[in-house]
Amino acid sequence: MKYKVKDMNLAEQGRLNIELAESRMPVLSYLRKKYDNEKPLKGISIGGCLHVTKETAVLIRALKAAGAEVAWSGCNPLSTQDDVAAALVKYYEVPVFAWRGLSNHEYYDCIDEVLNSLPDITMDDGADLIIRIHENYCSLLKKVFGGTEETTTGVHRLRAMATAGKLHYPIVAVNDAETKWDFDNIYGTGQSTLDGIIRSTNVLLAGKTVVVAGYGHCGKGVAMRARGMGANVIVTEVDPMQALKATMDGYRVMPMDGAAPQGNIFVTATGCKEVIKRQHLRKMKDGTILSNTGHFNVEISLRDLEELAKEKKEVRPNVMEYFLCSGKKLYLLAEGRLVNLAAAEGHPSEVMDMSFANQFLSVLYLVQNKGRLNNRVHDVSREQDAEVAVIKLNTLGVDIDRLTREQQRYLKDYTSGT
Ligand code: ADE
Repeated sequence: MKYKVKDMNLAEQGRLNIELAESRMPVLSYLRKKYDNEKPLKGISIGGCLHVTKETAVLIRALKAAGAEVAWSGCNPLSTQDDVAAALVKYYEVPVFAWRGLSNHEYYDCIDEVLNSLPDITMDDGADLIIRIHENYCSLLKKVFGGTEETTTGVHRLRAMATAGKLHYPIVAVNDAETKWDFDNIYGTGQSTLDGIIRSTNVLLAGKTVVVAGYGHCGKGVAMRARGMGANVIVTEVDPMQALKATMDGYRVMPMDGAAPQGNIFVTATGCKEVIKRQHLRKMKDGTILSNTGHFNVEISLRDLEELAKEKKEVRPNVMEYFLCSGKKLYLLAEGRLVNLAAAEGHPSEVMDMSFANQFLSVLYLVQNKGRLNNRVHDVSREQDAEVAVIKLNTLGVDIDRLTREQQRYLKDYTSGT
């Protein structure tokens, strides 16, 4: 079996981490057991390009148990957990092509290795693999019959591709499932982003001013958790609706120009480029911490930071100190890449449980509907969302009320008013 990981000696630790994650992912474990006998994915080859973490390993195990052949690469140069990558190769016989710290060139080499396994289904987080197929592997487009996309940025890219008439196979937007983005994006990003900031700097949040750029699901989670740790939170936005929500949630909302001189810690969560650039960097306080939790490292202008600095040095892992010509020091975390995965472990297993249950069920959906879906971005069905919610509640031991017949009738009866 071909593979490329950093160090196979890390495999035992990786296995322990995967087992720990699995013990906190009851929905995915339930699905793995449910489909283990039936093997609905038998004969299906899956090419994955998602962060190689202990939670992803649990997803891969479930896909394999259901009969799939799987090959995997990471979807970010700094997010691979090398122990997990080694364990996937050694204990679970998965051809993995990923290690932490690979170059851009190596990153695409790894994706190419996955594509050489000739997948029938692709699984993306950020859409790099699917776009690689469309650009460089046109012949593979005849074989691939569907794909899934995990994240907001990837869904945006794929919807743009579909609108341009350039998407050549159907995609399920796992990100947009309610049991994904209302949990993973909010609670997962909220907690893991602060985890990344704290692990890398050990900074005290209480009393600090934290500026969160973007008040989508992810920014909302970060703002909520930062406030919970005692920070004063400022939100910056471009969307009037999101800005209004942030205002009514009790945050100060202002343009980045106004926030730049006030913040101690900045977190970008917009999915857009150059949210923090030269004019903002110039106004920032000495000692300011800069971090990003969006998918790509484009939200903080690294070029402007480099140009404003006369020196830089890594003062501890994941913390680069930029000494500006003005005499101020700014601290950039994890090279401006997603701080929650690069400087911590990504979202906790409990929340990835629902996201990856949706990934698993979406792959089943693609197999069951092979040849019947058109080449656009499809939403997860209400039924699938409800199934994941019900299983999760059951595994949490949470019971809920049920409508009586009379209540059901009442809800359908438009005649009974005042
Ligand atoms: N994205 C965010 N957190 C993650 C995790 N723990 N595993 C895989 N993908 C993630």
